[in-house]
Amino acid sequence: MSNSNINKYPMSVKLFHSLIALLMIATLVVGWQLEDNEGLMGLHKSLGIAVLLLGVLRLINRIRAKDRIPASVNTIGSLKYWVEKAVHGLLYLTMFGLPVVGWLTSNAFGYPASFFGLFNLPTLIGKNIDLAEQLGSLHGFGADVFVGLLAVHILGALVHLLMNKENVFKRMS
Ligand code: HEM
Ligand code: HEM
Repeated sequence: MSNSNINKYPMSVKLFHSLIALLMIATLVVGWQLEDNEGLMGLHKSLGIAVLLLGVLRLINRIRAKDRIPASVNTIGSLKYWVEKAVHGLLYLTMFGLPVVGWLTSNAFGYPASFFGLFNLPTLIGKNIDLAEQLGSLHGFGADVFVGLLAVHILGALVHLLMNKENVFKRMS
């Protein structure tokens, strides 16, 4: 349960949020360069796998810390409240969905999902180029959806800061 007596997220939640935000944005930016530089594929996959593995730990930590989460700055039940919950939920979904679809895309192209050459994630599906191309399109579409969600997320936080004088950045940093 969120708590109206608390005005900051727990340190562990803040650390996971910042680390995964940086990693997801780095994975995205490297993903955008892949068409011109295929040599970046190993780095792209490794950063994305880090998002997936840290995402699992983040979710476990978020559940563990659920009684220490500050109450929403939006009025419970208002439209803004539900938009906030939907955007946060969908951001969590992209945190898992993008790496998993990327992993499946790699397998379908006939390659392993390798983490900096240290280990490979298990191969989930066999080589199938038609399927790989479809999964690749889904992965690219998912990345575009992520950009849209991130824009709404950051703009929402800025609106709270500038128009409502609620410094939500301070709650998360
Ligand atoms: C530079 C980029 C980002 C900025 C500036 C930012 C900013 C913030 C801020 C200020 C909050 C606190 C809202 C509040 O006070 O309730 C927050 C919460 C949150 N952010 Fe971000 N964020 C960024 C990137 C991301 C990314 C990439 C994700 C993807 C998973 C994400 C997911 C969340 C979630 C789920 C919450 C709610 C807290 C929780 O339940 O863990 N954010 N963000
Ligand atoms: C936060 C996680 C991730 C983000 C934001 C992301 C983003 C992207 C983007 C923007 C592209 C270029 C899409 C295009 O040009 O249409 C891409 C391509 C690709 N990504 Fe990811 N990615 C992530 C994770 C992963 C992971 C974990 C893997 C594999 C282990 C992966 C494998 C691939 C592959 C194979 C392609 C090329 C697809 C194709 O040629 O059709 N990605 N990714």
